[in-house]
Amino acid sequence: MGHVAIEATGNPLPDETLEKARKSDAILFGAIGHAKYDNDPTLKVRPEQGLLKIRKELGLYANLRPIKLFDDLLQASSIKPEILQGADILFFRELTGDVYFGEKKRSEDRTSASDLMIYHKYEVERIARMAYEAARTRKKRLCSVDKANVLEASRLWREVVQEIAKEYPDVETEHMFIDNAAMQLIKDPKRFDVVVTGNLFGDILTDEASQIAGSMGMLASASVGDAIGFYEPIHGSAHDIAGKGLANPLASILSAALLLDISFGLKDESQRVIKAVDATLRQGYRTMDIATKHTANEFILGTDAMGAKVLDNLN
Ligand code: IPM
Ligand code: MG
Repeated sequence: MGHVAIEATGNPLPDETLEKARKSDAILFGAIGHAKYDNDPTLKVRPEQGLLKIRKELGLYANLRPIKLFDDLLQASSIKPEILQGADILFFRELTGDVYFGEKKRSEDRTSASDLMIYHKYEVERIARMAYEAARTRKKRLCSVDKANVLEASRLWREVVQEIAKEYPDVETEHMFIDNAAMQLIKDPKRFDVVVTGNLFGDILTDEASQIAGSMGMLASASVGDAIGFYEPIHGSAHDIAGKGLANPLASILSAALLLDISFGLKDESQRVIKAVDATLRQGYRTMDIATKHTANEFILGTDAMGAKVLDNLN
């Protein structure tokens, strides 16, 4: 899938790959993207199309992105520790609608272009319900993020969430505009518990939120919906450092932890993986992206060595 699949078959998601995915209970996905395409927007066949297609084909409409800081990384974030401490957010990013999948157009003379932002009621309902269910098991606070002051698609979104909210009177609901949410997220991340939002806003907001966890290299995600679970780090393939052994493997490892928990109900095993990551960080091991100059007891490791340390700590 992705760049290698395009090179081999001309298709970013060959049928064979999709068939294998369909026969699986869960999928652990690496990362996607390649410099060649980023630098040439005119290329028609692109790696990311494979990812979008598999999300759609497997009905993965809910992308869960938990944001939780490991204690030892308090200094790794660019946000002040006192603001961060205790922040714990679970994002529900809608994943198979919005401008990502709406009609794309380019005028004949190629000088204008549009992407349709479209949401259907049922798409908002199902993700809102899922987010509310999760909020019930947490601090019982849900923040729905939209741009209802400007966008019709957002007004539908808000209307539907307000309706679903009636089924969950025990959960406190807040509606926030995306611009305000982007600001509040770094001003006071602790105010959030569960956040539910559309595909594009969720994409942007969770990259921002990764700073609460110290680095993009720390954030795992789970995409769920119809049946199969799909697990991937939120980051791309980081082609600028490809092959150098610098990448942080922890987001991928933590994605595997989510896989064990959500797709197979192996809660204990999942916790053991998370604890192994925690122990590794406590011992001072860091990849470049989460290294700081604040502590003397930091040891910078490459990708393989970091993975090996986590394995050592797994028990
Ligand atoms: C993500 C990524 C993808 C997205 C890209 C690679 C298409 O940024 O999973 O957040 O925009 O959904
Ligand atoms: Mg993204």
